[in-house]
Amino acid sequence: MVIDIQQIRKVYRVGEVDVTALDDVSLGVARGDFVAIMGASGSGKSTLLNILGCLDRPSSGSYRLDGIEVSGMGPDQLANVRSRKLGFIFQNFNLLSRTSALENVELPLLYGNPIGHAARHRKALAMLERMELGSRVHHFPGQLSGGQQQRVAIARALVNDPAVILADEPTGNLDSRSSNEIMKLFQEVNAQGLTIIMVTHETDVAAFARRTLQMRDGRFI
Ligand SMILES: Nc1ncnc2c1ncn2[C@@H]1O[C@H](COP(=O)(O)OP(=O)(O)OP(=O)(O)O)[C@@H](O)[C@H]1O
Ligand SMILES: [Mg+2]
Repeated sequence: MVIDIQQIRKVYRVGEVDVTALDDVSLGVARGDFVAIMGASGSGKSTLLNILGCLDRPSSGSYRLDGIEVSGMGPDQLANVRSRKLGFIFQNFNLLSRTSALENVELPLLYGNPIGHAARHRKALAMLERMELGSRVHHFPGQLSGGQQQRVAIARALVNDPAVILADEPTGNLDSRSSNEIMKLFQEVNAQGLTIIMVTHETDVAAFARRTLQMRDGRFI
């Protein structure tokens, strides 16, 4: 299992009230799987993805990521695991707007194990070419279509050779043609062995995954 969570709880304290966002959730994801997570608004999907992404910590429970127990780690260690093991894709692409496509993709290579400028350049360029963006590498995000921006984001997520890709509503801002393109890319990189966990509201997007899990009230159903 590249991801193994056991009885994860997440409780948010808001004023005097405790909100249980995750209620004893367990999940195993094998290497090479492609999982879609669906469920109503407020069911806990983003909370779960944030914990899987080491962006947030569970209130209790255990989480092993690629063999490492991460649930007890502090912020610095989590940041380190995050940059080595995970790639993120968001609904709003989250690209740096004053930075070219190429520089956006080079960014993850600046942290963790720094490689030389030439190698960084080469890797980022190769990844953009793989996303069929070889002719757009010097464009800024605002000069690219939504689908192209998301492909830059995928290139950025993949460039560090992560163990798992986490995607929260990756097609939420795309028309159906671009959505299909992005999902075909996901299937392609998944077929090459990459593990993907994706949250989506759309059944036809979830259909691209190998399996779909439904959440309700902080649990899988
Ligand atoms: N930072 C927070 N503080 C307090 N409560 C929170 C916080 N984040 C989420 N919650 C609560 O936890 C529950 C789960 O929220 P979450 O964002 O995980 O839902 P979601 O399934 O991603 O919904 P959506 O489909 O609308 O994105 C909700 O009841 C929400 O109000
Ligand atoms: Mg959400």
